[in-house]
Amino acid sequence: MSQPLIDVHDLVFAWPGQPPLLDIPQFRLEAGEALFLKGPSGSGKTTLLGLIGGVNLARQGRISLLGQPLAELGQGARDRFRVDHTGYIFQQFNLLPFLSVRENVELPCRFSRSRAARASQRHGSVDQAAAVLLAHLGLDDPALLARRADNLSIGQQQRVAAARALIGQPELVIADEPTSALDADTREAFIRLLFDECRAAGSSLLFVSHDQSLAPLFDRHLSLAELNRAATPREA
Ligand SMILES: Nc1ncnc2c1ncn2[C@@H]1O[C@H](COP(=O)(O)OP(=O)(O)O)[C@@H](O)[C@H]1O
Ligand SMILES: [Mg+2]
Repeated sequence: MSQPLIDVHDLVFAWPGQPPLLDIPQFRLEAGEALFLKGPSGSGKTTLLGLIGGVNLARQGRISLLGQPLAELGQGARDRFRVDHTGYIFQQFNLLPFLSVRENVELPCRFSRSRAARASQRHGSVDQAAAVLLAHLGLDDPALLARRADNLSIGQQQRVAAARALIGQPELVIADEPTSALDADTREAFIRLLFDECRAAGSSLLFVSHDQSLAPLFDRHLSLAELNRAATPREA
């Protein structure tokens, strides 16, 4: 059997002074999968994504990404490992307002040599990779590339955030409720674009949301409550 991209074992996590939020005996994401993980607001989705990315460390249990146990890396190495191998689409997009659209999309390539190398290899240059990705995501106006990120519509911000996550073909794309600000039609169209681009880049997708209506679009869907023994009955 091939090695899973994400391998979580016996994870227990609590925020300081709080009871355990996550108690997950096992969770795996296979390479090439597009997985939808649903759970109501406050159920620990963002916390789990932070643990999988190595932003926070669990004191109990093991999380491996691409076969690398995250706890074995020091903080600096963990940060480099994250930017080399994962692209994040945050709920609030987290674009840097004072940077241009182009600079925002290219940001991961400034921090990760391997992503810069892959972007250049595939598209000739990092600039070209950013332009191509944005065009695929429906932002093909060249003037937009130079625009500051703080004067974009929500739909544009979302596409810029997606291009930033995808540039340089990270093995894993993590999307944290990236569609909650959109209406239903736009939401589905965005997810389909995301699938196309992940497939083209060979990236696996872990998509979390409280919005159950999105589940049928995915290869596999799971409820966090099915994985998490610390879930309250309300969450199932
Ligand atoms: N940085 C933090 N410090 C302390 N508690 C937190 C922190 N982040 C989240 N929590 C708590 O963890 C619980 C789950 O939050 P979160 O992971 O954001 O859930 P979801 O993403 O499913 O809405 C909530 O009770 C929240 O208050
Ligand atoms: Mg959240």
